[in-house]
Amino acid sequence: MPMSDQNLLVETRDGIAFVTVNRPDKLNALNDRTVAELDAAFAAIAAAPETRGVILTGAGEKAFVAGADIVELATQSPVDGKERSLRGQRVLDRIERLGKPVIAAVNGFALGGGCELAMACHVRIASENAKLGTPEVKLGIMCGYAGTQRLPRLVGKGRALEMLLTGEMVDATEALRIGLVNRVVPREKLLAEAEGLLRKMIANGPLSLRFTLEAVHDGLEMGFGEAQHQEATLFGLICTTEDMKEGTKAFLEKRPARFQGK
Ligand code: COA
Repeated sequence: MPMSDQNLLVETRDGIAFVTVNRPDKLNALNDRTVAELDAAFAAIAAAPETRGVILTGAGEKAFVAGADIVELATQSPVDGKERSLRGQRVLDRIERLGKPVIAAVNGFALGGGCELAMACHVRIASENAKLGTPEVKLGIMCGYAGTQRLPRLVGKGRALEMLLTGEMVDATEALRIGLVNRVVPREKLLAEAEGLLRKMIANGPLSLRFTLEAVHDGLEMGFGEAQHQEATLFGLICTTEDMKEGTKAFLEKRPARFQGK
């Protein structure tokens, strides 16, 4: 596991990787280097069977991530812009497709690429001071890390377009109301709340989580019939696992299950 470098801190504790974007003086803005570090960190987490889930947050008191780094965006050519967008999309896809639950602990501003990053996580918990939005249009640009796709899927087309076209932020209460975040908690309870929720998830069978994430993620891109077929196939696959035997046996023996992810 990468332990830490300049722009990202990764600390693993009892099966959870705590990943912190660490440029607080720039409100954790995602420069190219930070995006590359996120890519490497999540690749390492994917390959580490002992890591069962991730909490992603931002360093400092003010921001989760205040967007892509505008200093880099300001001078990009069309070719750079397309490449940067494709790279960011790939990294966020890697997070969404990690096969392990990822919770965004949104501890302040989550704007532009920061909002897109939070949306690539499976669940979002916000602190009361959080503000989320896609202000790209105010800069004469637009979302480039799949915000035009994930936001309408999360909050519906009308609300997404209101946010995408005005560029205005929503506060934590409004984000909760429209389904952009799952929970809102006081700042000092944010990480504990995220950890508590993640520990409930990772107490379950790792393959159950992985296949459920896959069924939901892929299924939403399919027709209903095809998605049901995919679910049935994954259900069949889960029936071949040691964890399925252990989980059902443990229930019948009235004891906690000991899942191996096999
Ligand atoms: N890219 C690069 N630098 C950024 C940044 C970004 N997305 N967001 C903030 N910063 C930097 C600021 O330039 C400032 O740097 P400086 O101290 O060297 O001048 C530092 O972070 C602190 O930000 P500041 O604007 O002074 O904080 P604030 O509390 O007054 O305002 C925000 C906070 C979030 C409202 C404001 O920083 C902002 O609008 N940021 C840009 C958000 C955005 O448009 N994101 C989408 C980018 S595609």
